[in-house]
Amino acid sequence: MRISVIGCGYLGAVHASAMAELGHEVVGIDVDRRKIEALAAAHPPFYEPGLPEILNSATASGRLRFSPDIADAADAEVHFLAVGTPQSSETGAADVSFVDAAFEALLPILAEGALVVGKSTVPVGTAARLAERLAAEAPHAALAWNPEFLREGFAVKDTLAPDRLVYGVADGDDRAASMLDHVYRAAIEAGTPRIITDYATAELVKVAANAFLATKISFINAMSEIADATGADVTALADAIGHDVRIGRRFLNAGVGFGGGCLPKDIRGFTARAEELGLGQTLAFLTEVDAINMRQRRRVVDLAVRDLGGSAAGKKVAMLGVTFKPDSDDVRDSPALDIATSLNALGAEVVATDPEGIENARSRRPELSYVPTTREALQLADLVILATEWGEYRTLDPEVVGRLVGERRIIDGRNVLDPAAWRAAGWHYRGIGRP
Ligand code: UDX
Repeated sequence: MRISVIGCGYLGAVHASAMAELGHEVVGIDVDRRKIEALAAAHPPFYEPGLPEILNSATASGRLRFSPDIADAADAEVHFLAVGTPQSSETGAADVSFVDAAFEALLPILAEGALVVGKSTVPVGTAARLAERLAAEAPHAALAWNPEFLREGFAVKDTLAPDRLVYGVADGDDRAASMLDHVYRAAIEAGTPRIITDYATAELVKVAANAFLATKISFINAMSEIADATGADVTALADAIGHDVRIGRRFLNAGVGFGGGCLPKDIRGFTARAEELGLGQTLAFLTEVDAINMRQRRRVVDLAVRDLGGSAAGKKVAMLGVTFKPDSDDVRDSPALDIATSLNALGAEVVATDPEGIENARSRRPELSYVPTTREALQLADLVILATEWGEYRTLDPEVVGRLVGERRIIDGRNVLDPAAWRAAGWHYRGIGRP
């Protein structure tokens, strides 16, 4: 099929490349010329495992092009809207102005029978509003909402082989669903379940999924606080409750909490939308989920100060990890970066390292010191904080690391190290909710 992807940020760049990988003819459109040039040269402006390879093969084959000019999307049969919906600072609501602008730009160029497909995470009600406008301005085209569930670090795999496909379509619009079936034929033939529903449900599936995941993480983090106060072990607790298939073990890892460009923003946007609908009370628990999450960061700062003898001033703290999760260079709303900044403000000399995130971290928090290697970060440190569970930090040898630091003190902010092994090597080890 001929496909356009409007917006070539993280979501759009991955989607465009994956669609071309599936054999479609794709044009990616973005107003940012530098982004377009980087993608056309198969150099994604962010780190995502597997993306450079498919981007390279798709651009080389001629199936994938990039352009700053929306007119180049005019002959597409399917147009994906993949622009961002950032959190607006005053209300916490999702700002849909980029979606609206992309949609307005598409209206005059839509071909007969074209399908506009929303991928962006939007407040419920957006698709119905856009569909009304489409009916008035371009009745020869149709709208569907097809939320995206990709995870950073697994974005290519999640796009090519998703857990499920959700199509929100207008009542009785079988054609829109069959066009999407055509787009995703490979996944459907491989058995991916698909749910065909209305616009509002499709929009809600996305925010409900993220709200549920965030709740699961904050639930276990709340348990970690109880565990700390009672001497219980939150890791064993998570293993034990996770064996109940109704609960499941995934997303029950206690630690510094969730960050990134989706979970924090989406729960705030969802709460703001509920308030607009007069249902603020219904989602009030999500405010608490957010509060528990932010409290985890303060807990780690407090633990660090306590471990440093009551004051962080003049102490060297090695921060292992600055990204919000491993296998990503994304530092948006990163717990690690927040903790580092707080300790720096308390007078500590924070030296941070990360396999991929240093550049992004430096542009957001230039006041911190960054070093490229773990070894340099650890040198003569008074305290080590493991804040992002990159593979190379999980496998650190406590004896080898112990020879580099000034004091053998570590806070394992992701509960990924073996406390017994570290203590045996003479470390003062502290996890989150672990005795
Ligand atoms: C998330 C959703 O998983 C994805 O479906 C959606 O499309 C976008 O938002 P992502 O932001 O890439 O994806 O990260 P995810 O893997 O969900 O992790 C989010 C945060 O939660 C990270 O900071 C991670 O470290 C944290 N987390 C995750 C925990 O603290 N504990 C856990 O058990 C799991």
